[in-house]
Amino acid sequence: MKSRMLQISFALVLSLLIYAFVVPTKGPTPYIIPLPSHVPYPEIPADNPLTVEGVLLGRHLFYDPILSIDGTISCSSCHKQEFAFSDTARFSVGVGGNRSKRNSMSLVNLAWGRRFFWDGRVGSLEELVHHPVTDAFEMGEDTNRVAEKLRNSAKYRDLFARAFPKQKITFRLAAYSIAQFMRTIVSFNSPMDVFVNGMYTRLDDTPYDETFKQFAREHLEETHGLVSEICSQCHGGYLYGGVFMRNNGLGGKTPEEGFKSTSGLLTDLGKFKAPVIRNLSYTYPYMHDGSLRTLEEVMDHYQFLSEEAENLAPELKNARERLRNITPEQKQHLLQMLEYMNDPGLLTNPAYSKP
Ligand code: HEC
Ligand code: HEC
Repeated sequence: MKSRMLQISFALVLSLLIYAFVVPTKGPTPYIIPLPSHVPYPEIPADNPLTVEGVLLGRHLFYDPILSIDGTISCSSCHKQEFAFSDTARFSVGVGGNRSKRNSMSLVNLAWGRRFFWDGRVGSLEELVHHPVTDAFEMGEDTNRVAEKLRNSAKYRDLFARAFPKQKITFRLAAYSIAQFMRTIVSFNSPMDVFVNGMYTRLDDTPYDETFKQFAREHLEETHGLVSEICSQCHGGYLYGGVFMRNNGLGGKTPEEGFKSTSGLLTDLGKFKAPVIRNLSYTYPYMHDGSLRTLEEVMDHYQFLSEEAENLAPELKNARERLRNITPEQKQHLLQMLEYMNDPGLLTNPAYSKP
């Protein structure tokens, strides 16, 4: 009796082991975002883990005009890799020659973002995707029709089956995969990153060392920490950005309500998302309304903040005097520092290009 029980339990354990290890598990493969060692891994929503197949599907969709009503506009029409996934037009061309109402935004390091769009009206990338798809000025399409078109495509039936096995093709899953792809677009390879990464990993004897020291001497000292002490308060240090909603004094020139239209609070009047200030050489023109064409104009804006600027952020109110006293020489160093945050490799990284 005892040995029979043993036999049965042995057979049970064996079949479990066979099931676990021998029966091929054909689910999607987890995707890990490659990051330098000092960058903390972003939090990924539990209901949308990154997978190789999901990211690939999202990448196909990102570049496919199938998401627009007349098959002419893709996400990449307004978020171009060669311009750090932004657009150099002040307002981008959407379906039927319509123009977007705001300046297109650069799509890097979004995995660390908390609020999206200039007015911060969306809190997750999954939730964001239907906005450009249904916006009459951008893609003008209906989400049910998108799902139908995808179901009718052999290519997408295959890509969806790999990314989301045994699930019906829906717009929601399309949005989830596009969110996955966008989370993988990271930019951490500018000279400034190499500099900081070097400090963290203590590459004291590398040939970079002299370059680092010279960099620090020339720019950090000359600007008296202006960037780190003033700009970083809102632009989240040079690593992230995209977390704070603030009024940077542009309001005087534009009638937009900004974050107030999301929160309903008067105190949020004229607040916009302080974007990642990386790759600025490729993401002109600047600000939500694309009203500043060059970085010199941006610096002039901050240096001579309008006295009437309503609801100006305290970080800038307190720095007014200091900003006004920036010398032309310091300004050149500041602009140079901003250029050190360009990551040209992003523009040609094959992982993000049209598949
Ligand atoms: C016609 C141009 C156009 C198209 C097409 C377009 N976008 Fe955008 N995108 C914009 C503009 C303009 C904004 C800023 C909108 C705003 O603030 O209201 C933006 C903002 C965004 C943001 C917010 C970034 C941030 O830092 O907050 C994301 C993400 C984004 N778009 C993704 C997409 C995706 C995904 C698609 C395709 C499904 C897409 N866009 C299609 C023009 C476009
Ligand atoms: C009080 C917060 C705050 C401070 C301090 C601040 N900014 Fe900004 N910045 C913003 C906000 C908010 C925006 C977006 C405003 C808009 O579009 O209306 C912005 C936009 C920008 C842009 C345009 C980015 C783009 O993609 O269009 C640049 C460049 C910029 N800031 C650089 C700087 C520099 C350099 C400093 C330091 C001298 C600085 N900022 C200080 C909040 C701030």
